[in-house]
Amino acid sequence: MRRLMSVIVVLFFLSSIIFAQNRYVGVKSCAPCHKGEKKGAILEKWEKSKHSKAYQTLLSEASQKIAKEKGLKKPANESLECLECHITAVKVDAKLFEKNFKKEDGVQCEACHGPGSAYKTMAIMKDKKKAIEAGLTYYADEKAIEAQCKTCHNEKSPTYKEFKFKEAWAQIVHKVVK
Ligand code: HEC
Ligand code: HEC
Ligand code: HEC
Ligand code: HEC
Repeated sequence: MRRLMSVIVVLFFLSSIIFAQNRYVGVKSCAPCHKGEKKGAILEKWEKSKHSKAYQTLLSEASQKIAKEKGLKKPANESLECLECHITAVKVDAKLFEKNFKKEDGVQCEACHGPGSAYKTMAIMKDKKKAIEAGLTYYADEKAIEAQCKTCHNEKSPTYKEFKFKEAWAQIVHKVVK
Protein backbone atom coordinates (compact mmCIF):
# COMPACT_ATOMS: atom_id res chain seq x y z
CA MET A 1 0.00 0.00 0.00
CA ARG A 2 2.75 2.36 0.97
CA ARG A 3 4.69 1.56 -2.15
CA LEU A 4 1.60 2.14 -4.27
CA MET A 5 1.12 5.51 -2.62
CA SER A 6 4.67 6.57 -3.36
CA VAL A 7 4.34 5.46 -6.98
CA ILE A 8 1.22 7.58 -7.28
CA VAL A 9 2.95 10.55 -5.71
CA VAL A 10 5.92 10.23 -8.08
CA LEU A 11 3.64 9.91 -11.13
CA PHE A 12 1.69 12.94 -10.05
CA PHE A 13 4.89 14.88 -9.61
CA LEU A 14 6.24 13.86 -13.03
CA SER A 15 3.00 14.68 -14.82
CA SER A 16 2.93 18.11 -13.24
CA ILE A 17 6.44 18.76 -14.54
CA ILE A 18 5.46 17.65 -18.04
CA PHE A 19 2.38 19.88 -18.03
CA ALA A 20 4.33 22.80 -16.63
CA GLN A 21 6.71 22.59 -19.55
CA ASN A 22 4.14 23.30 -22.26
CA ARG A 23 5.10 26.72 -23.52
CA TYR A 24 3.05 29.49 -25.13
CA VAL A 25 4.05 29.88 -28.77
CA GLY A 26 1.84 32.82 -29.79
CA VAL A 27 -0.77 33.29 -32.54
CA LYS A 28 1.98 33.75 -35.15
CA SER A 29 2.91 30.11 -34.67
CA CYS A 30 -0.66 28.85 -35.18
CA ALA A 31 -1.31 31.14 -38.15
CA PRO A 32 0.41 29.26 -41.02
CA CYS A 33 -1.91 26.26 -40.68
CA HIS A 34 -5.12 28.02 -39.69
CA LYS A 35 -5.40 30.93 -42.14
CA GLY A 36 -7.05 31.31 -45.55
CA GLU A 37 -10.56 30.52 -46.77
CA LYS A 38 -9.68 26.91 -47.53
CA LYS A 39 -8.94 26.34 -43.86
CA GLY A 40 -11.89 28.25 -42.47
CA ALA A 41 -10.11 31.63 -42.20
CA ILE A 42 -9.77 31.10 -38.46
CA LEU A 43 -6.86 33.52 -38.14
CA GLU A 44 -8.67 36.22 -40.12
CA LYS A 45 -11.80 35.81 -38.04
CA TRP A 46 -9.83 36.20 -34.82
CA GLU A 47 -7.98 39.23 -36.20
CA LYS A 48 -11.33 40.93 -36.81
CA SER A 49 -12.64 40.08 -33.34
CA LYS A 50 -12.22 42.26 -30.28
CA HIS A 51 -10.13 39.55 -28.64
CA SER A 52 -7.20 40.49 -30.89
CA LYS A 53 -7.46 44.14 -29.72
CA ALA A 54 -7.96 43.48 -26.03
CA TYR A 55 -4.48 44.71 -25.08
CA GLN A 56 -4.77 47.86 -27.25
CA THR A 57 -8.00 48.66 -25.41
CA LEU A 58 -6.00 49.07 -22.22
CA LEU A 59 -4.09 51.96 -23.83
CA SER A 60 -7.28 53.94 -24.49
CA GLU A 61 -8.36 57.01 -22.58
CA ALA A 62 -11.40 55.13 -21.29
CA SER A 63 -9.09 52.51 -19.77
CA GLN A 64 -6.79 55.05 -18.13
CA LYS A 65 -9.85 56.67 -16.61
CA ILE A 66 -11.15 53.37 -15.21
CA ALA A 67 -7.71 52.59 -13.78
CA LYS A 68 -7.55 55.96 -12.08
CA GLU A 69 -11.04 55.64 -10.62
CA LYS A 70 -10.08 52.27 -9.21
CA GLY A 71 -7.02 53.84 -7.60
CA LEU A 72 -4.54 51.62 -9.45
CA LYS A 73 -0.94 52.71 -9.02
CA LYS A 74 0.09 51.84 -12.58
CA PRO A 75 -1.52 52.52 -15.96
CA ALA A 76 -4.17 50.00 -17.06
CA ASN A 77 -1.86 48.23 -19.52
CA GLU A 78 0.66 47.53 -16.73
CA SER A 79 -1.83 46.53 -14.03
CA LEU A 80 -2.52 42.89 -13.29
CA GLU A 81 -6.06 43.96 -12.34
CA CYS A 82 -6.69 44.67 -16.04
CA LEU A 83 -4.22 42.40 -17.82
CA GLU A 84 -5.65 39.27 -16.21
CA CYS A 85 -8.51 39.31 -18.74
CA HIS A 86 -7.07 41.44 -21.56
CA ILE A 87 -4.04 39.31 -22.44
CA THR A 88 -3.19 35.60 -22.49
CA ALA A 89 -1.70 33.61 -19.61
CA VAL A 90 -0.93 36.55 -17.39
CA LYS A 91 0.19 34.63 -14.32
CA VAL A 92 2.56 32.34 -16.18
CA ASP A 93 6.34 32.26 -15.62
CA ALA A 94 8.11 34.34 -18.30
CA LYS A 95 10.30 31.32 -19.15
CA LEU A 96 7.23 29.65 -20.66
CA PHE A 97 6.82 32.18 -23.47
CA GLU A 98 8.49 31.49 -26.81
CA LYS A 99 9.75 34.36 -28.94
CA ASN A 100 6.64 34.63 -31.15
CA PHE A 101 4.43 35.15 -28.13
CA LYS A 102 3.41 38.79 -27.75
CA LYS A 103 1.23 40.09 -24.97
CA GLU A 104 0.10 42.79 -27.42
CA ASP A 105 -1.85 40.05 -29.24
CA GLY A 106 -4.39 40.15 -26.44
CA VAL A 107 -6.78 37.24 -25.99
CA GLN A 108 -5.15 34.89 -28.47
CA CYS A 109 -5.65 31.27 -29.52
CA GLU A 110 -3.84 29.79 -26.54
CA ALA A 111 -6.07 31.66 -24.07
CA CYS A 112 -8.76 29.13 -24.97
CA HIS A 113 -6.79 26.24 -26.47
CA GLY A 114 -3.90 25.96 -24.01
CA PRO A 115 -0.13 26.39 -24.52
CA GLY A 116 0.80 24.99 -27.92
CA SER A 117 4.48 24.05 -27.87
CA ALA A 118 3.80 20.31 -27.68
CA TYR A 119 0.64 19.97 -29.80
CA LYS A 120 1.37 22.35 -32.69
CA THR A 121 3.14 19.86 -34.97
CA MET A 122 1.17 18.46 -37.93
CA ALA A 123 1.43 14.85 -36.78
CA ILE A 124 -0.04 15.63 -33.39
CA MET A 125 -2.60 18.22 -34.52
CA LYS A 126 -4.18 15.74 -36.92
CA ASP A 127 -4.88 13.35 -34.08
CA LYS A 128 -7.23 14.98 -31.59
CA LYS A 129 -6.46 12.47 -28.85
CA LYS A 130 -2.72 13.06 -29.10
CA ALA A 131 -3.24 16.81 -29.24
CA ILE A 132 -5.21 16.75 -26.02
CA GLU A 133 -2.53 14.63 -24.38
CA ALA A 134 -0.01 17.24 -25.52
CA GLY A 135 -1.89 20.07 -23.84
CA LEU A 136 -4.73 21.09 -26.18
CA THR A 137 -7.66 22.08 -23.95
CA TYR A 138 -10.55 19.64 -24.19
CA TYR A 139 -14.15 20.90 -24.15
CA ALA A 140 -16.68 18.17 -23.43
CA ASP A 141 -19.70 20.26 -24.44
CA GLU A 142 -21.08 23.80 -24.73
CA LYS A 143 -21.34 24.10 -20.96
CA ALA A 144 -17.59 23.63 -20.72
CA ILE A 145 -17.05 26.27 -23.40
CA GLU A 146 -19.34 28.70 -21.61
CA ALA A 147 -17.46 28.16 -18.34
CA GLN A 148 -14.21 29.07 -20.11
CA CYS A 149 -15.70 32.30 -21.49
CA LYS A 150 -16.92 33.24 -18.04
CA THR A 151 -13.44 33.16 -16.56
CA CYS A 152 -13.23 36.64 -18.16
CA HIS A 153 -16.81 37.56 -19.07
CA ASN A 154 -17.95 38.12 -15.51
CA GLU A 155 -18.76 40.85 -13.03
CA LYS A 156 -15.14 41.49 -12.16
CA SER A 157 -14.95 43.30 -15.50
CA PRO A 158 -15.35 47.04 -14.80
CA THR A 159 -17.42 47.43 -18.00
CA TYR A 160 -19.36 44.19 -17.54
CA LYS A 161 -22.38 43.69 -19.77
CA GLU A 162 -24.57 40.66 -19.24
CA PHE A 163 -22.85 37.76 -20.99
CA LYS A 164 -25.23 35.93 -23.31
CA PHE A 165 -23.29 32.85 -24.23
CA LYS A 166 -25.19 31.74 -27.33
CA GLU A 167 -24.99 35.16 -28.99
CA ALA A 168 -21.40 35.74 -27.99
CA TRP A 169 -20.28 32.31 -29.21
CA ALA A 170 -22.10 32.85 -32.51
CA GLN A 171 -20.00 36.01 -32.98
CA ILE A 172 -16.65 34.28 -32.64
CA VAL A 173 -17.31 30.63 -33.58
CA HIS A 174 -14.74 29.24 -36.03
CA LYS A 175 -14.55 25.98 -37.92
CA VAL A 176 -12.05 24.08 -40.01
CA VAL A 177 -13.35 23.59 -43.57
CA LYS A 178 -13.25 19.93 -44.50
C1 HEC B 1 1.65 22.49 -38.70
C2 HEC B 1 0.30 22.99 -38.85
C3 HEC B 1 -0.46 23.39 -37.60
C4 HEC B 1 -0.08 24.29 -36.62
C5 HEC B 1 1.24 25.05 -36.52
C6 HEC B 1 -1.19 24.40 -35.72
N1 HEC B 1 -2.22 23.60 -36.14
FE1 HEC B 1 -4.03 23.33 -35.19
N2 HEC B 1 -4.53 21.91 -36.56
C7 HEC B 1 -3.80 21.56 -37.67
C8 HEC B 1 -4.50 20.50 -38.39
C9 HEC B 1 -4.05 19.87 -39.69
C10 HEC B 1 -5.67 20.22 -37.64
C11 HEC B 1 -6.73 19.17 -37.94
C12 HEC B 1 -7.82 19.76 -38.75
C13 HEC B 1 -8.82 18.70 -39.03
O1 HEC B 1 -8.67 18.00 -40.00
O2 HEC B 1 -9.74 18.59 -38.19
C14 HEC B 1 -5.66 21.13 -36.50
C15 HEC B 1 -6.64 21.16 -35.54
C16 HEC B 1 -6.71 22.08 -34.50
C17 HEC B 1 -7.77 22.19 -33.55
C18 HEC B 1 -8.99 21.30 -33.50
C19 HEC B 1 -8.71 20.03 -32.74
C20 HEC B 1 -9.87 19.11 -32.86
O3 HEC B 1 -9.70 18.09 -33.52
O4 HEC B 1 -10.93 19.43 -32.32
C21 HEC B 1 -7.48 23.23 -32.72
C22 HEC B 1 -8.31 23.71 -31.54
C23 HEC B 1 -6.22 23.77 -33.16
N3 HEC B 1 -5.78 23.07 -34.25
C24 HEC B 1 -5.60 24.86 -32.58
C25 HEC B 1 -4.30 25.26 -32.88
C26 HEC B 1 -3.58 26.27 -32.12
C27 HEC B 1 -4.14 27.05 -30.96
C28 HEC B 1 -2.33 26.36 -32.68
C29 HEC B 1 -1.18 27.22 -32.23
C30 HEC B 1 -0.77 27.06 -30.84
C31 HEC B 1 -2.28 25.41 -33.78
N4 HEC B 1 -3.49 24.77 -33.86
C32 HEC B 1 -1.19 25.22 -34.60
C33 HEC B 1 -2.58 22.09 -38.04
C34 HEC B 1 -1.82 22.97 -37.28
C1 HEC C 1 -12.70 39.72 -15.22
C2 HEC C 1 -12.10 40.08 -16.49
C3 HEC C 1 -11.79 41.53 -16.78
C4 HEC C 1 -11.02 42.39 -16.02
C5 HEC C 1 -10.37 42.12 -14.68
C6 HEC C 1 -10.95 43.62 -16.77
N1 HEC C 1 -11.65 43.51 -17.95
FE1 HEC C 1 -11.98 44.98 -19.31
N2 HEC C 1 -13.21 43.74 -20.36
C7 HEC C 1 -13.47 42.43 -20.05
C8 HEC C 1 -14.46 41.91 -20.98
C9 HEC C 1 -14.99 40.48 -20.98
C10 HEC C 1 -14.81 42.96 -21.84
C11 HEC C 1 -15.83 42.95 -22.99
C12 HEC C 1 -17.25 42.80 -22.54
C13 HEC C 1 -17.67 43.62 -21.39
O1 HEC C 1 -17.41 44.85 -21.33
O2 HEC C 1 -18.27 43.02 -20.49
C14 HEC C 1 -14.00 44.10 -21.43
C15 HEC C 1 -14.06 45.37 -22.03
C16 HEC C 1 -13.32 46.46 -21.64
C17 HEC C 1 -13.37 47.76 -22.28
C18 HEC C 1 -14.18 48.11 -23.50
C19 HEC C 1 -15.59 48.43 -23.12
C20 HEC C 1 -16.44 48.77 -24.31
O3 HEC C 1 -17.55 49.21 -24.05
O4 HEC C 1 -16.03 48.58 -25.45
C21 HEC C 1 -12.51 48.59 -21.59
C22 HEC C 1 -12.22 50.05 -21.87
C23 HEC C 1 -11.92 47.79 -20.52
N3 HEC C 1 -12.44 46.51 -20.59
C24 HEC C 1 -10.99 48.26 -19.62
C25 HEC C 1 -10.54 47.53 -18.51
C26 HEC C 1 -9.65 48.09 -17.50
C27 HEC C 1 -9.06 49.48 -17.53
C28 HEC C 1 -9.45 47.10 -16.58
C29 HEC C 1 -8.64 47.17 -15.30
C30 HEC C 1 -9.02 48.20 -14.36
C31 HEC C 1 -10.22 45.94 -17.01
N4 HEC C 1 -10.85 46.25 -18.19
C32 HEC C 1 -10.28 44.75 -16.33
C33 HEC C 1 -12.90 41.70 -19.02
C34 HEC C 1 -12.16 42.23 -17.99
C1 HEC D 1 -12.17 32.92 -26.86
C2 HEC D 1 -11.73 31.56 -27.01
C3 HEC D 1 -11.07 31.13 -28.28
C4 HEC D 1 -10.09 31.80 -29.01
C5 HEC D 1 -9.46 33.14 -28.71
C6 HEC D 1 -9.77 30.93 -30.11
N1 HEC D 1 -10.52 29.78 -30.06
FE1 HEC D 1 -10.47 28.21 -31.35
N2 HEC D 1 -12.06 27.37 -30.47
C7 HEC D 1 -12.59 27.78 -29.25
C8 HEC D 1 -13.61 26.86 -28.84
C9 HEC D 1 -14.41 26.95 -27.55
C10 HEC D 1 -13.71 25.87 -29.87
C11 HEC D 1 -14.64 24.67 -29.94
C12 HEC D 1 -13.98 23.62 -29.13
C13 HEC D 1 -14.45 22.28 -29.38
O1 HEC D 1 -15.39 22.10 -30.17
O2 HEC D 1 -13.82 21.40 -28.79
C14 HEC D 1 -12.70 26.22 -30.86
C15 HEC D 1 -12.43 25.49 -32.00
C16 HEC D 1 -11.28 25.64 -32.78
C17 HEC D 1 -10.87 24.76 -33.85
C18 HEC D 1 -11.62 23.51 -34.32
C19 HEC D 1 -12.71 23.93 -35.26
C20 HEC D 1 -13.55 22.79 -35.78
O3 HEC D 1 -13.68 22.68 -37.00
O4 HEC D 1 -14.05 22.00 -34.98
C21 HEC D 1 -9.69 25.24 -34.36
C22 HEC D 1 -8.87 24.67 -35.50
C23 HEC D 1 -9.38 26.44 -33.60
N3 HEC D 1 -10.36 26.65 -32.66
C24 HEC D 1 -8.25 27.22 -33.79
C25 HEC D 1 -8.06 28.47 -33.22
C26 HEC D 1 -6.99 29.38 -33.60
C27 HEC D 1 -5.91 29.08 -34.61
C28 HEC D 1 -7.16 30.52 -32.85
C29 HEC D 1 -6.35 31.81 -32.89
C30 HEC D 1 -6.18 32.45 -34.19
C31 HEC D 1 -8.32 30.30 -32.00
N4 HEC D 1 -8.84 29.06 -32.26
C32 HEC D 1 -8.81 31.22 -31.07
C33 HEC D 1 -12.22 28.90 -28.54
C34 HEC D 1 -11.33 29.86 -28.97
C1 HEC E 1 -8.86 35.63 -21.34
C2 HEC E 1 -10.12 36.33 -21.18
C3 HEC E 1 -11.27 36.04 -22.14
C4 HEC E 1 -11.82 34.81 -22.44
C5 HEC E 1 -11.41 33.43 -21.94
C6 HEC E 1 -12.92 35.09 -23.36
N1 HEC E 1 -12.99 36.42 -23.61
FE1 HEC E 1 -14.30 37.33 -24.89
N2 HEC E 1 -13.46 39.14 -24.47
C7 HEC E 1 -12.44 39.35 -23.56
C8 HEC E 1 -12.12 40.77 -23.53
C9 HEC E 1 -11.06 41.41 -22.66
C10 HEC E 1 -12.98 41.39 -24.46
C11 HEC E 1 -13.02 42.88 -24.81
C12 HEC E 1 -11.92 43.23 -25.74
C13 HEC E 1 -11.94 44.68 -26.11
O1 HEC E 1 -13.01 45.26 -26.38
O2 HEC E 1 -10.85 45.25 -26.15
C14 HEC E 1 -13.80 40.33 -25.04
C15 HEC E 1 -14.76 40.54 -26.03
C16 HEC E 1 -15.58 39.57 -26.55
C17 HEC E 1 -16.61 39.79 -27.54
C18 HEC E 1 -16.96 41.12 -28.17
C19 HEC E 1 -17.94 41.81 -27.28
C20 HEC E 1 -18.44 43.12 -27.81
O3 HEC E 1 -18.97 43.88 -26.98
O4 HEC E 1 -18.32 43.39 -29.00
C21 HEC E 1 -17.24 38.58 -27.76
C22 HEC E 1 -18.40 38.29 -28.69
C23 HEC E 1 -16.58 37.60 -26.91
N3 HEC E 1 -15.57 38.23 -26.21
C24 HEC E 1 -16.92 36.28 -26.84
C25 HEC E 1 -16.27 35.32 -26.07
C26 HEC E 1 -16.65 33.93 -26.01
C27 HEC E 1 -17.84 33.30 -26.73
C28 HEC E 1 -15.75 33.31 -25.19
C29 HEC E 1 -15.66 31.85 -24.84
C30 HEC E 1 -15.60 30.91 -25.96
C31 HEC E 1 -14.81 34.33 -24.72
N4 HEC E 1 -15.18 35.54 -25.27
C32 HEC E 1 -13.73 34.10 -23.89
C33 HEC E 1 -11.80 38.41 -22.80
C34 HEC E 1 -12.03 37.04 -22.86
